[in-house]
Amino acid sequence: MAEDFVIRDATGIADADAIALAHAESWRATYRGILSDAYLDGPIEDERRRLWRARFAEVPAPPTVAAWADDALAGFACAFIREDPHWGSRIDNLHVLPKFKRQGLATRLMRTIASRLVDTAPDVPVYLWVYDVNAPARATYESLGGMLAERAPRTGADGTAAPALRYTWPTPAAIGAGG
Ligand SMILES: CC(C)(COP(=O)(O)OP(=O)(O)OC[C@H]1O[C@@H](n2cnc3c(N)ncnc32)[C@H](O)[C@@H]1OP(=O)(O)O)[C@@H](O)C(=O)NCCC(=O)NCCS
Repeated sequence: MAEDFVIRDATGIADADAIALAHAESWRATYRGILSDAYLDGPIEDERRRLWRARFAEVPAPPTVAAWADDALAGFACAFIREDPHWGSRIDNLHVLPKFKRQGLATRLMRTIASRLVDTAPDVPVYLWVYDVNAPARATYESLGGMLAERAPRTGADGTAAPALRYTWPTPAAIGAGG
């Protein structure tokens, strides 16, 4: 049965720490072979905690939305407004925890983070990077109307480089607009 998710804006240190732990769990579950074992089995939690605390300390902090199933963090997404003069705002770190997948939550998180971009930068295009081998994520972005713009190597949080794809939308309102 589909969970009853509540999606809200994430702020503050408690949210930062919860997202950091979930981020580490999601990468351990799905990025084995993309990121190094030394990183996934080692400093990932501390490194993610430092990253999310630093993000939430920025003024303004990048818009971040988190989905909760009762007290469990089920997923999250973050965006960086007008990050690139050509490609526009970047969506980063869309994650749905393993037990909550295939219930439409990534779709809802993408639409919610897109609505934050509609509020702040409605006429600016949106892009993101996804690893070439990450078929579920590619399928998710394609289902939301993302267009493949280019293929290029990307360096991950652990310094490992892997082939990646840039997906784009002409505006934030175009994300998932097809139904
Ligand atoms: C990619 C991810 C966010 C998708 O989350 P999700 O909540 O399961 O996605 P949704 O349920 O919203 O799926 C939307 C559509 O995307 C496609 N899709 C999603 N996962 C898929 C899969 N494993 N295989 C094929 N298609 C898939 C389907 O078209 C799906 O629609 P459907 O279920 O009606 O067929 C999730 O698998 C995840 O967190 N993966 C690990 C982290 C990650 O790779 N993040 C992306 C970083 S770029």
